[in-house]
Amino acid sequence: MRAMNISLIGGSGFVGRHLIRRLVDQGHQLKILSRHPQRHREILLSPNVKMVKADPSDLSTLSREFQGMDAIINLAGILNEPKHNGAGFHRVHVELPARITQAAKSARVFRLLHVSALNASSDAPSFYLRSKADGETRIKAAAEYGAEVTLFRPSVLFGFDDQFTNRFKKLMEMIPMVFPLPGARARLQPLYVEDLVTAIASSLSKNVTFGQDYNLCGPNRYFLHEIVSYIAAQSGLERTILPFSGRAERFQARMMEWVPGKPFTRDNLASLGVNSICKTPFPEEFGISPTPLEQVAPVWLGPHADRYDEYRSLARR
Ligand SMILES: NC(=O)c1ccc[n+]([C@@H]2O[C@H](COP(=O)([O-])OP(=O)(O)OC[C@H]3O[C@@H](n4cnc5c(N)ncnc54)[C@H](OP(=O)(O)O)[C@@H]3O)[C@@H](O)[C@H]2O)c1
Repeated sequence: MRAMNISLIGGSGFVGRHLIRRLVDQGHQLKILSRHPQRHREILLSPNVKMVKADPSDLSTLSREFQGMDAIINLAGILNEPKHNGAGFHRVHVELPARITQAAKSARVFRLLHVSALNASSDAPSFYLRSKADGETRIKAAAEYGAEVTLFRPSVLFGFDDQFTNRFKKLMEMIPMVFPLPGARARLQPLYVEDLVTAIASSLSKNVTFGQDYNLCGPNRYFLHEIVSYIAAQSGLERTILPFSGRAERFQARMMEWVPGKPFTRDNLASLGVNSICKTPFPEEFGISPTPLEQVAPVWLGPHADRYDEYRSLARR
């Protein structure tokens, strides 16, 4: 694969941290645009990675920073918004992709990769999923000036530093004995973050992926309550999972919007109203079999997780 100059927006997040390592291994030169580069110093792990402070709401900044790039990867996203009216999602998931497309056009960048979400649709039940669908349209508009666009729609992602398994683990540590769970009967087909990274990194210069949208899932389907029970068992937490539904789950989601960090919201609950599962297997063109949760999660959830945390903090220095 030819080494490329690649700019990442949202590259400081969970997926970005994994993707950066992979792209550096492949010899690419990376420019990470971030609102707060000082918060992500651990990312500067190679002379091939440059982090630039950039205001993503400023079109001229994006156009300037995209000059000379071979590809742009957009990973910016939020799960919760400050107010609960869809405006926050619209800013990050719709206005930003529209600006990225415009800036890429003016900088003459002809390869765009964009991470959306499984079930993104204009008639989806949540602000999150509807805004993701709208954002896809904005990025796809780049095809009009001749850019090659690839979209990735992953199901929920897991990895040692995820906000999924680790969040449930933390919540269960805070709530003893009985753990009330909204959306317990939602079905999910979680994907390992490294498998998403494989798909993104290998599609950069793989012509067959140009103009394609990919729904991406792991190998197994679960009810949410099964995953939460698995996390509890792996973490040595004896918890009875109490599935909530109807009014009770909406009330609980509303209460959790007041917990610092908003671990769960009514909009998250609405997103769980559609099963996050794939109808088709992982696309053959990426040449991998997706990784089962049970193969890797014991490393960060299991009895030796403390030692793993220590190892990670040493590795970051
Ligand atoms: N994690 C999952 O389970 C999952 C599942 C399906 C889809 N996705 C999608 O995959 C993409 C990457 O997910 P992730 O888990 O890596 O996300 P993440 O860690 O939460 O954040 C990604 C980055 O988005 C940028 N960002 C946050 N708020 C922003 C704002 N208001 N304006 C501009 N940029 C903002 C931040 O970059 P700076 O602070 O450096 O600017 C942040 O590092 C997202 O689009 C997400 O919706 C994730």
